[in-house]
Amino acid sequence: MAENEKWGTRIGFVLAAIGSAIGLGNIWRFPYQVYNSGGGAFLIPYFAALIIAGIPVLILELGLGGETGKTTPLAIREKLRESEFIGWWAVLNGWLVNMYYAVIVGWSVVFVGFSLTLAWQGTELSNFFMNNFLNSWLPVVGVILVWILQYFIMKAGIKEGLEKANKIFVPAIWVIVILLVLRGITLDGAIQGLNYYLTPDFGALTNAEIWINAFGQIYFTLSVALGIMITYASYLPEKSDITNNAFIIALANCGFAFLVGFAIFPIMVAGGIEPTSGIGLAFMALPKAFEFLPFSNVFASLFFVLLTMAGLSSSISLAEAQIGPIREKLTLKRSKTVSYVIAISLIGSLIIALEGPLGLFGDNPLSLLTILDTSSATYTLPIIAFGEALIFGWVYGIDKIRTYVNSVSDYTMGTWFNYFLKIVVPIALGYSILSKTVTRPG
Ligand code: PHE
Ligand code: NA
Repeated sequence: MAENEKWGTRIGFVLAAIGSAIGLGNIWRFPYQVYNSGGGAFLIPYFAALIIAGIPVLILELGLGGETGKTTPLAIREKLRESEFIGWWAVLNGWLVNMYYAVIVGWSVVFVGFSLTLAWQGTELSNFFMNNFLNSWLPVVGVILVWILQYFIMKAGIKEGLEKANKIFVPAIWVIVILLVLRGITLDGAIQGLNYYLTPDFGALTNAEIWINAFGQIYFTLSVALGIMITYASYLPEKSDITNNAFIIALANCGFAFLVGFAIFPIMVAGGIEPTSGIGLAFMALPKAFEFLPFSNVFASLFFVLLTMAGLSSSISLAEAQIGPIREKLTLKRSKTVSYVIAISLIGSLIIALEGPLGLFGDNPLSLLTILDTSSATYTLPIIAFGEALIFGWVYGIDKIRTYVNSVSDYTMGTWFNYFLKIVVPIALGYSILSKTVTRPG
């Protein structure tokens, strides 16, 4: 297998980056956040966060990977020798995220099976998932399947593995979400659902917390600060466009999240289920809401296939964020690195999935998952993004990045980019780190 391989096509790279960005968060967090944070009015802070804080960091990461042709830690090292450790910190943090993220993808796989017969029918909303499912061995089976599948994708390499997988996953999740939207908006009561979702409450915009949440959410949803985008961009052919790609990735990601609400809200409201988010939405509320639909098993299966594919395309990007750097640093063969990284990830995931059936840490089968999610996604991720913006904005000299990016891109960025990265991003991140209400996937 060729080492130092590249993406086969530009569209292959863009699809893989979109596949990474669109994940569980787009499906189970964003629509609820809109509903809960001022309805349609929330789109204002959200797009503000996207443009002034999200896209600049995305461009920075794509620019770093594209210019150096190196994955996260070595790309950073090439620019600032002493800062390599920030890259490794991102690698490690992404690894921890993937250990529990893959467990959730494993649940989704099992729920595709449950959907065929609507296995939860007649049970109580949370009981089926929290007690029956999480305390069984099925989550263990699910996550083993996920890692076996990932092993084959990752081993096949960038072009034959990641690119091909995303060429299936990404178009498929768009088709499925469109089918679910069509189902949602043709329901009786669809209007009521959409009113729930989108009726703007502009008064909410005076609430600082809503702005903080928007800024906090943007990094997780764009898959930055875990070394993914730097790594993915390092596999681009030399002198590939950066800014156009960044805008396409960001808009596709946010457009997808927006669309999901058009499916979920009408179905929840018509099914008489209180809107909620996170694990509770995907594995408790929605399965119940599907019950009342004609052909409920078809729609439920579609939903869990969507969750599985959106999750897998993000999970493989997270795995590559360790595989690429470790292989590069230790000059290992890809196949060997894949085996080591996946073996360690699998062990981590198994401990998390075994918590329920073995009763490891008391009654709550999700305690480990919750701790990891809070520490790595809610706290550490924004701190890394903050560090990245500070060292590149102030120490390295952001204008050098901008000059490179402009030299290869159709769209050239003005000096606004420098100010956003040097000033707006650190302030927004610093503020949200301090107020501790930054993003989480659930
Ligand atoms: N962006 C993905 C989501 O919204 C999650 C993710 C975050 C994936 C970070 C990889 C890295 O769910
Ligand atoms: Na994804």
